Amino acid sequence: MAKLCVNIDHVATLRQARGEKFPSVIDAAKIVEKSGCAGVTVHLREDRRHIQDEDVINLKKILKTKLNLEMSINKDIVNFALKIIPDEVTLVPEKRQELTTEGGLDVIKYKKRLKKIIKDLHKKGIVVSLFINPDFKQIDAAKKVGADFIEIHTGHYAEAKNKTNFEKEFKKIKNAAIYAKETGLGVNAGHGLNYDNVKEIAGIKEIEDLNIGFSIIARAVFIGLENAIKEMLKLIR
Ligand code: PXP
Repeated sequence: MAKLCVNIDHVATLRQARGEKFPSVIDAAKIVEKSGCAGVTVHLREDRRHIQDEDVINLKKILKTKLNLEMSINKDIVNFALKIIPDEVTLVPEKRQELTTEGGLDVIKYKKRLKKIIKDLHKKGIVVSLFINPDFKQIDAAKKVGADFIEIHTGHYAEAKNKTNFEKEFKKIKNAAIYAKETGLGVNAGHGLNYDNVKEIAGIKEIEDLNIGFSIIARAVFIGLENAIKEMLKLIR
């Protein structure tokens, strides 16, 4: 059964909106763990629009489950991860102007650089996942550069406007998950997953972790974080 890692970036978005010290990312992480999740995910963006360096440092200190750090392949960010040593790093492409991560990482294009980064992260004992589109060529490249996991980008599936597209995108994800597993890679998935579209993805048995953020934090505004997580866990299970 797929496990849930909650992305708590948008707790920090709310805090940063007023430059306050609350709501606390640490308190949110404690609720995530108490609710029976497998871990906490945060994206340390180059522009530091939500999660700050200090959040990552403090999360690393208190988490009992797993800290999955999403980040770009920017040199300073990679050096930060090498210093903090999260349990897992998920490498993502990053554009300054985007509202959220827009696509998968082009592993083929950055093959050489990724190989070196993954080697350095592995030396520190960090598990490395690459956020990619459900594409066999990218999966092959992920294996070649030494990744442990891929995280399949579910954004296009989540955005599908009709049943035909929805089924087409779902099939791509399922086939990619099966192929990656056969290749020897672990498989995670995430982006755009919500209370209406998570069930089908959670039913793909090759998928280990689901990284879900926005929909849970948005629901938490009305029913509280613990309840929002419990609702999501129920759908996954
Ligand atoms: N996985 C990755 C790699 C992401 O970049 C994000 C967004 O930060 C997520 C999962 C979570 O996406 P959402 O907030 O849409 O659930």
